[in-house]
Order: sequence, then structure tokens, then C-alpha cells
Amino acid sequence: MDKQERVTTPKVVLGVSGGIAAYKACELLRRLTESGHDVRVVPTAASLHFVGEATWSALSGNPATTEVWESVHEVPHVRIGQEADLVVVAPATADMLAKAAHGIADDLLTNTLLTARCPVVFAPAMHTEMWENPATRENVATLRRRGALVIEPAVGRLTGVDTGKGRFPDPVEIFELCRRVLARGPRALTADLAGRHVVVTAGGTREPLDPVRYLGNRSSGRQGYALAATAAARGARVTLVAGNTELPDPAGVDVVRVGTAVQLREAALAAAEDADAVVMAAAVADFRPAAYATGKIKKKDGQEPEPVTLVRNPDILAELSADRPKPGQIVVGFAAETDDVLANGRAKLARKGCDLLVVNEVGEHKTFGSAENEAVILATDGSETPVPHGPKEALADMVWDLVAGRFAGAPDGS
Ligand code: CTP
Repeated sequence: MDKQERVTTPKVVLGVSGGIAAYKACELLRRLTESGHDVRVVPTAASLHFVGEATWSALSGNPATTEVWESVHEVPHVRIGQEADLVVVAPATADMLAKAAHGIADDLLTNTLLTARCPVVFAPAMHTEMWENPATRENVATLRRRGALVIEPAVGRLTGVDTGKGRFPDPVEIFELCRRVLARGPRALTADLAGRHVVVTAGGTREPLDPVRYLGNRSSGRQGYALAATAAARGARVTLVAGNTELPDPAGVDVVRVGTAVQLREAALAAAEDADAVVMAAAVADFRPAAYATGKIKKKDGQEPEPVTLVRNPDILAELSADRPKPGQIVVGFAAETDDVLANGRAKLARKGCDLLVVNEVGEHKTFGSAENEAVILATDGSETPVPHGPKEALADMVWDLVAGRFAGAPDGS
């Protein structure tokens, strides 16, 4: 490896503790290596019951050692942690979280955690009872307070027949989260949204006409998903209220799926109760059919179709802005405009009563479905923050920068 490569190849330590989800970490490892990271796998002895040393060495191209007594002359118990740009422990068992929280160092991985000066991500996987146990809750809180990113496990099928919270998130999504944390560099050492609960709405609503038809819109949900994923990577507890979208659940995010604007309103209001910020990125239908036909609407020979009467949907953003259940809550809206973008944006910011309004210009080939976006973020203090054309994640990070700036000085929600 030449010098240039050493400078640009990020070094990642993949810690693997002893849970059945260890086999899923193979996919995470593959993603990391294939995207140009130099990965050193540090498994615990218990984890080798699930995935053997040979698999880790072959997939990473590096030795995978468990104990501090191997290659002692290289002082691995200190060097591996010191040199890392990111440590990700996936899966992290309840036992591993406990050891990390208490600074126990009885094998190579726990030593590495004590010497790491880089961002550390834990992807817990365990049974719901263990995750909810007060001991684990306190250990997670301790690690988060110290700046580690402990992502929320997913909800779903666990080992055996159990279902609940504790499932290892999709390894592809954990990889995405690692990529985001690495991209933040040293800024990721302070998870600036830690202790905050944020709610993001995303995707388009569908307003049904009959059992097979609906009025919908072209929103892909990508901007909202980028907001949820970036907030999770910055340490927030995230509730994502998702309308129609085909995107996978971001790692560490609680996803509530909804169909109509009325359902989205209910879910957003419920989640907003204890939220520090609410970002309304969803494309909420302004109108819904006045009547829902319980049977399919049929065409009738020789007859014109019945006109569809529409009624107004509630304006969720205006309602959230007017009636904030938590003092100091920040509310962010989005505005999609085709003409007089800034003037319409300013008027909408005032009309909706939110703190920030992300205004973007939309058209046939702009914004919808694309991975990129360009916007101006308007604030009630009169400021305008232009966000140049770029990934929707960059816009998402700018929104959180502005939200985090408004949190500064306010009591945190932990
Ligand atoms: N929004 C909402 N409830 C609605 C409609 C929109 O909460 N019933 C939210 C969107 O999530 C977005 C913001 O309001 O954050 C702007 O939506 P937009 O449709 O652009 O604004 P409207 O007030 O509908 O204005 P107009 O139709 O005149 O553009």
C-alpha cells in the first residue's frame, strides 16, 4: 500500500460480539471492503460459535484476532483502536454494551473500545426483554452520553418464534449509517442530536376513491428518508412517519407507516408529543375525495363518469406549528414551488407558522424521485440559507445544522 492510499483508505474496526446476528455482519463487512475501507474484524470468543475466524479473515483480507495475546509485539490491544477512523460493533450484545459502559477490557475488542479516539457505533441485537431491561437501558444511556452512537434495534422477528424490538437492522442500512458517520469525520465524535427525539414525515399520501384507486402524488420519500437517516447518524432518536414509498427502513429509525393524510396527521401528532423537532417533508395531499366507494366504481355504458368531489385535508404543518406540545419544539416545513419560489416561500413560512421552511423548485424533471436536491432554507429571523445542488443528504445535514443551532442553549430532551 503506498502512502497516498494510506492517507485516503479509511480504517474501520468491525467488532463482532456473540449473537446469532453475527452472520449478518458478513454482509456489512462485504459492503465496507467493497467500498474501499480497510476493515479489521475483531470478534469476541463467543461470537466465533456463530461465525468462524476463517470467514472474517477471508472477507476482510486481514487477520481476525480475538485475544490480546496474539502478535503481542505489535501491541494490538492499543494500536487497533488508536489507528481506527471508525469502530462499529455489530452485533452488540447486552453483555458487550455492559462491558463497554463499564470500561471492562478483557479481550481484544473491549481493549480496542477503550483506546479508540474515533466515532464508535454500536448496532445492538438481542431479545426485547434484554433490550428493555433497566441495566441495558442505563448502559445504553451511559454510552450515548459519552458520545457513542448506539442505534435503535429494529422491530421484527427475533431468534426463535419471538417478535419485538431487538432485531439487527438491515446490514445495508448499517453500512449506510457508517458511511454517513465517516463522512462527518471528527464532527461525528459529538453526536450533536444525542438525547433529542425528532420526528420526520416522508413520502406521499394516498387518498382512496374506492378499494383499488387513490389520488396520489409523485413524491419518492427520499428527502424525508435522508433526513431520518442523517438524524440517526447524529445520535437522535428518530420517528419516521412514512407515507407511500418503496425505500427500506433506515437503520436505527422507528418507522410508522401510514396511508392517508388523516392517518399521517394522527401519527405525526402522537409522535410530536415529546419531540424536540418535527420536520414535515411528506407530500401531504391537500384534498381527498369527499366520498369513499366501498365497492369498485364501475363504468356504465352510455353514461359519463360521476365527477369526483374533493374536500380539504387538515393542514398538519400549520397545526403542529400553532400548537406545540413540548416547549421549544422546532417545526420545519417544506415547500415545493414552481414559480416565484422565494416570494411564495416567505409567504408560506408566515402562513404555516413554522420556524424553518425548506423551499425547493419543482418541475417535470426536478426533485421528485431524484437523489439530488437544491433549496433555500428560510427562517423566521429573516435569514436565507442557500443549499447548492447536491445529494439530498447534504440538504438534510444542513437542516439539522440549523435545527441543532436552535437547540443550543435550550434544555435537552433526554
Ligand atoms: N403540509 C401539511 N398538510 C397538508 C399539506 C401540506 O402538513 N395538508 C405540509 C407539507 O408536509 C410541507 C408543507 O406543508 O411541509 C408545504 O406544503 P405545500 O403543499 O407546498 O403547501 P400548501 O400550503 O399546500 O400551499 P400551496 O398548495 O398553495 O402550494
